[in-house]
Order: sequence, then structure tokens, then C-alpha cells
Amino acid sequence: MQIFIDSADTVELAALAATGLVDGVTTNPSIIAKAGKPIFPTLKAICEIVSGPVSAESVALDHDGMVAEGRKLMAVAPNIVVKLPLTMEGLKACRTLTEQYGAKTNVTLCFSAVQALMAAKAGATYISPFLGRLDDGGQDGMELIREIRAIYDNYGYETQVLSASIRTVAHVRDAALAGTDCATIPPNIFRALYKHVLTDVGLEAFLKDWKASGQEI
Ligand code: G3P
Repeated sequence: MQIFIDSADTVELAALAATGLVDGVTTNPSIIAKAGKPIFPTLKAICEIVSGPVSAESVALDHDGMVAEGRKLMAVAPNIVVKLPLTMEGLKACRTLTEQYGAKTNVTLCFSAVQALMAAKAGATYISPFLGRLDDGGQDGMELIREIRAIYDNYGYETQVLSASIRTVAHVRDAALAGTDCATIPPNIFRALYKHVLTDVGLEAFLKDWKASGQEI
């Protein structure tokens, strides 16, 4: 499973990328705004930190605007993925950018399995179902991941399922069990993925016993 980081904080991204476990980055207009720096140099810096796919989202609402913005975003670096909203115009722009300009695309704000089917038919490279926001509203976000996985497998669509809006370590586990291709994870959840209290307790006991043995390696 590929792990992407859902952030535009370049200091944080550099620290996490140093683990060698980060496959890519996703951003959206809110994440870029939160980082508080201009979008183009920020994206450039992110693409220098992480060589894998870096999603950058268009803010236009119409096909022509999305295509124009998508092309500007693609010019930042070869690893930019153009992120487009799951609207009719977004799906049209997805097809145009894919077929005419060779773009990699990430269709975002997906909240239903049939929306994901439409994105696959539009040739999206990635589909981003927002499972945490569904859970927030009392629905079962993970069921959406399972449904999309089944539909894509039924028809052999190559669009990759990119589980997004991850809120917990359990979301990461359950998305992996559901067969997601990728998950985009906030930095705090990424840092929690390798932790377990029994690991810490076990390590402390090993080191105590080793010290008592008086040996060295
Ligand atoms: O990348 C977009 C998505 O992950 C948003 O997450 O936490 O704003 O629902 P969130």
C-alpha cells in the first residue's frame, strides 16, 4: 500500500520523507492556505522533497478553467498530479487532461461508489473517497472503500483507490484490509502508525536485562 502525506508543511514533509516510508503527498486548497505560503513555490518545494506523486488541486469550476489551471500545476514538476473535484466539469477536465496533456489525475471529494465509477470511466489515475468525513456524518466511510474496491475489481479499472480524510490509525488498518491502493494520512497519524505500548515496554525490559548482563556488542 502506498502512503501519502496529507500536508503542505515542507518542514514536516522533509522529516517524514526521511523515514523512506512516504510514497507521495496530497494537498488541497485548504491545506495550501493553512501552510500560509504561495502555492507554486510551495508545490515546487514539496516535489523536491518527495519524488512520488504530489497532488495539487485546481480551484476553477468549469472545464476550460480546470484544464488551464491543471496545465499550470503540471508545469511545476513532472510528479505533479492534477486534483479535480468530482463534478461533471471535473470529470470532463479529467478526461481532457489525461488524453490531451498526459496528466496524472486525482478526482477528489468522492462520497459514493457510483461517483467513483464515473471517475474511473473518466480515466482518473486516483479516486479520493473521503472516509473520515462520512464517518463524521454518521455514515460508514470504510464501506465506501470496500464498495469502490469491488466495483473497480469487477471491471478491471486501473484507477487507484486513494483513501482520504483519514482520522485514525484504525482507518489506516481497515483501509489496508479493504484493499485500498493508497492512503493519504495526516502527519500526526503517520507518526502514530509505528507505535505500540508493548513495543516500548518490551524494549525497555530488553535493555535493562542487557545492561545487567554486563555484555557489549
Ligand atoms: O486530501 C483531502 C482529505 O484528506 C481531507 O481530509 O481531514 O479535511 O476531511 P479532511
